[in-house]
Amino acid sequence: MLYRSLLRPLLFRLPPETAHELALHSLSFAPNLTKTLLGDRFKRSPFGKLRRFGLTFSNPVGLAAGFDKDGVALESLAALGFGFIEAGTVTYHPQPGNKRPRLFRLPQDKALINRAGFNNHGAAAFAQRVKRNRPDCVLGVSIGKSKVVPLADAVDDYLKSFAVVYPVADYVAVNVSSPNTPRLRELQQAHQLEELLQALQTRNAELAAQEGRSALLPLLVKLSPDLGQEEFKEIVEVAQRQRLAGLIAANTTTDRSRLQTDSRQVEAYGAGGLSGAPLKQRATQVIANLYNLTQGAMPLIGVGGIFTAEDAWEMISAGASLLQIYTGFIYEGPTITRDINENLRRIISSKGFVSLDEAVGCRAKELAGC
Ligand SMILES: Cc1cc2nc3c(=O)[nH]c(=O)nc-3n(C[C@H](O)[C@H](O)[C@H](O)COP(=O)(O)O)c2cc1C
Repeated sequence: MLYRSLLRPLLFRLPPETAHELALHSLSFAPNLTKTLLGDRFKRSPFGKLRRFGLTFSNPVGLAAGFDKDGVALESLAALGFGFIEAGTVTYHPQPGNKRPRLFRLPQDKALINRAGFNNHGAAAFAQRVKRNRPDCVLGVSIGKSKVVPLADAVDDYLKSFAVVYPVADYVAVNVSSPNTPRLRELQQAHQLEELLQALQTRNAELAAQEGRSALLPLLVKLSPDLGQEEFKEIVEVAQRQRLAGLIAANTTTDRSRLQTDSRQVEAYGAGGLSGAPLKQRATQVIANLYNLTQGAMPLIGVGGIFTAEDAWEMISAGASLLQIYTGFIYEGPTITRDINENLRRIISSKGFVSLDEAVGCRAKELAGC
């Protein structure tokens, strides 16, 4: 409440990326102070422990990739009650990203458009920082292709990032779905994706043997909402063959068709990925579709336009067993995880389910068609 009536109006007077940097720096400034001030208030979970791909999550609501690309505020973000954080996307080579301005607010639509272009300090700097400051929750690390590396050499570039973040990651998310790196989304084509994932899983097995780990590091792929049914089908076959731990859907969309904001204004913002409320229906449908294609056998992380427990419930009933938020966090503020968890618990009970796991995918057939 305080956020929406006081802090958000102030932050929204600043250019979007300046507001983001201010929030991130404030959070990174004194993690111990944040942890002491917040205590366990944001961390109570009404779900007990959740087991997903060999990891234990304190609650199903995670922070989506792109918010803390360099892992500078992970401890404070964990104190806000996220069940997990996907840091990054990091690239092997440090890079500045696209020219500013590259982030735009569409308040009328509760949405954002961004063309950040993977601005980050590089995988090595990330790993070094996280070694010193681990968050008190599951940590996923998203890896992407460096802009200077041609698409033909993408596999080698991802392999290098993978090896660097391997020691600090609880899982790795392979980002092949950002619309802001030229041609990146082509890596979602079945044959290219298979080559990439096979190479990563081979390296994963080598590193596990080297480190004396009995299991592979969970490897997930993050998908675009702009793919067609046939493409999802082929991707699921690749994911199953390559023994992925799960799929994440969805990244931002290039579709602008569901917006209330004046179209001339939207055009003036230019190219980029759209996130937030207008993405919700499509992202939920993609999750339902993936749930049906995998027959519920592969964990799915649902992301796109989740602002409330009702949105979260739709994603769970479509087939997501974990959730992520980004734009909702910007618009609703730091109590969003707590609010979603508490109210989601109530919704699940009111529908007659005894646990969250029991509810996963209960409306997948219906929601895949909408
Ligand atoms: C400013 C911004 C930067 C993002 N950067 C990344 C990124 O680096 N890697 C990634 O996988 N997704 C990135 N995303 C996409 C989000 O992780 C998420 O998939 C998308 O925003 C949909 O969720 P939302 O509607 O809750 O925001 C970014 C989104 C925004 C708004």
